[in-house]
Amino acid sequence: MFDLSGEVAVITGGYSGIGKGIAEGLAEAGCNIVICARNYERCVESCKKIGKLGVKAFPLRCDVTKSEEIENLVHKTIKEMGRIDILVNNAGVEGKEKPIVDMSDEEWDYVVNTNLKGAFLCSRAVVKEMIKQGGGKIINVASITAFIVMANVSAYCASKGGLVQLTKAMALEFIKYNIQVNAICPGYFSTPMSRRLYKPEMWSKIARRNVPMGRIGKPEELKGTAIYLASSATDFMTGSCIVIDGWQLIW
Ligand code: NAI
Repeated sequence: MFDLSGEVAVITGGYSGIGKGIAEGLAEAGCNIVICARNYERCVESCKKIGKLGVKAFPLRCDVTKSEEIENLVHKTIKEMGRIDILVNNAGVEGKEKPIVDMSDEEWDYVVNTNLKGAFLCSRAVVKEMIKQGGGKIINVASITAFIVMANVSAYCASKGGLVQLTKAMALEFIKYNIQVNAICPGYFSTPMSRRLYKPEMWSKIARRNVPMGRIGKPEELKGTAIYLASSATDFMTGSCIVIDGWQLIW
């Protein structure tokens, strides 16, 4: 049920952090992988490592805020890999920590266009291929900030709240195409993004105070959920959000 042999997954922003964990997980389940991001060299490096797991791994440059680059991503993936079974909308940015009254139009757009519009643009392009193939799986990497807010990260929280609603809207519209759309909502995870915000010692303190499990997550701890959502185990599951946060949200 969890064997993804012969399938093809596109993971946006898949060379680092959570995307890398998910890409490795899907590859361990036998899935061929396309890693795309703005930094092509990092995608190539990552694909070399994933290739060692015995699957095909193909790097592509793509900015998820640009429709023409996404069209190119889909076109080249089909040419190289033949199909797209799974799309992981993982690419995201945190933006600058700022009160709303000081935030510029550009700062707002940078975060919302990447985290929310990027998922819309990628899904719109990939779904056309999935429809031809008779189905597929879309996994959106949202956040617990879709449900709780923190001060000075309004664009990020709004983008992730929007992504959860987009997950449900797509789930409903794509039911007739046999495409299941679900979201993973991580709490704090140790990644380049979280390390840009605070040093590891600070994260230990934050985790002791806010996370009942007393620590932040590791990207590899999302592998199982990604495999589950990509597999036939979830053929009757769509529009759902799986929270993985050491129980921070419920606390
Ligand atoms: P990261 O910075 O390692 O990963 C973000 C990835 O997105 C990078 O590979 C980056 O190149 C890519 N990216 C950014 N803008 C892009 C664009 N315009 N086009 C293509 N690729 C682009 O950080 P992390 O933490 O692994 O983030 C991955 C996802 O997980 C993001 O959506 C983030 O919001 C989400 N997340 C992270 C949490 C954490 O605690 N680290 C918690 C909850 C959600």
